Amino acid sequence: MTTDAKQKILILGGAGFIGSRIAKKLVDLGHQVIVYDKFYNFIEPEKSKYVFYLQKRLKNFSPDVKIIYGDIRDDVSLTKTLNEHRPDIIIHLAQIPLANVSNKISGEALDINVNGTISLIKAIGSVDFVKRLVYASSSFVYGHFQYAPADEKHPTNPIDVYGGTKLACENIIKGFGTRFGIDYTIIRPSAVYGPTDVNLRVSQIFVDNAFADKELILDGGGQTTLDFTYVDDIAQGFVLAALSTEAKNEIFNITRGEGRSLKNLVDILKTHFPDLKTEIKPADETRPKRGALDISKAKKILGYQPKYSLEEGIKEYIEYIKSVKK
Ligand SMILES: NC(=O)c1ccc[n+]([C@@H]2O[C@H](COP(=O)([O-])OP(=O)(O)OC[C@H]3O[C@@H](n4cnc5c(N)ncnc54)[C@H](O)[C@@H]3O)[C@@H](O)[C@H]2O)c1
Repeated sequence: MTTDAKQKILILGGAGFIGSRIAKKLVDLGHQVIVYDKFYNFIEPEKSKYVFYLQKRLKNFSPDVKIIYGDIRDDVSLTKTLNEHRPDIIIHLAQIPLANVSNKISGEALDINVNGTISLIKAIGSVDFVKRLVYASSSFVYGHFQYAPADEKHPTNPIDVYGGTKLACENIIKGFGTRFGIDYTIIRPSAVYGPTDVNLRVSQIFVDNAFADKELILDGGGQTTLDFTYVDDIAQGFVLAALSTEAKNEIFNITRGEGRSLKNLVDILKTHFPDLKTEIKPADETRPKRGALDISKAKKILGYQPKYSLEEGIKEYIEYIKSVKK
């Protein structure tokens, strides 16, 4: 059951790709939203469309959302923000969101992801009004899937820095939360795609290359399977999880719930860009072998229902890019 009462919700990392969508949805539902963000971009400047899309994200929810510039590792600033705004719910997405970047700058990934979460827990522990902490984990906590669809009981066995930090944060949040009575909800998204993503995930690279008439590189012949999730669906999942009383102290996979290969993605893009060319390269062995996640728990407890198939989501994504290119 979701609460009807209007909530004050602080979104850490709320200026990001997923966070800004969550912010917009919550504002549209009449909740009061505060975004706390350091406006970090982890992609090389010459490849990044960060500023262009950041402006679109902020414009989409302004002037309804209060924006605070701050680092999650700064517990003085965080505690001040909590005391000033007294949020009922905190949604925490403020981390290095990329596996390849986390492996490359692993010290920074440990610092932001793990120390940032510790600083947050300390700040929440020092006040008595936060009712729930919702954390954006990742399907990377599972490591190589032993079976698919992987449910929340699948063993957690991360194989890289990113997955390791995500699992560490889950455990910190669970352990401290249980001991000190800080209720939490952990969400494990996967392969999110759609408008305003600038983090050069495979979906963005493929769509951008299709627009630029560039070849698409298919690692491992395109057999890699991912549970591609449209950004509106994941945002909807976060909103339901944050507001649902039954989501308290639970972990949820929130994705589309379907494994689709990179080759599938290319075939969909070819229906929009018929001349698209591909090149096959060896598979990237540093990434866990994944597939579909089992989302039946989120469907049953939260009433979560993803709306966008990969075909529909890619169509929306392409239409959005065309609309902002005009
Ligand atoms: N996009 C995906 O496919 C995906 C999949 C699984 C999990 N996630 C998780 O969801 C979250 C959001 O991902 P996203 O794709 O929206 O990434 P994003 O980079 O667009 O958003 C992250 C936001 O956090 C902010 N941030 C980072 N470090 C910060 C710090 N030290 N202090 C304050 N703010 C900071 C950034 O400025 C950015 O606005 C991340 O935690 C990510 O690991 C994303």
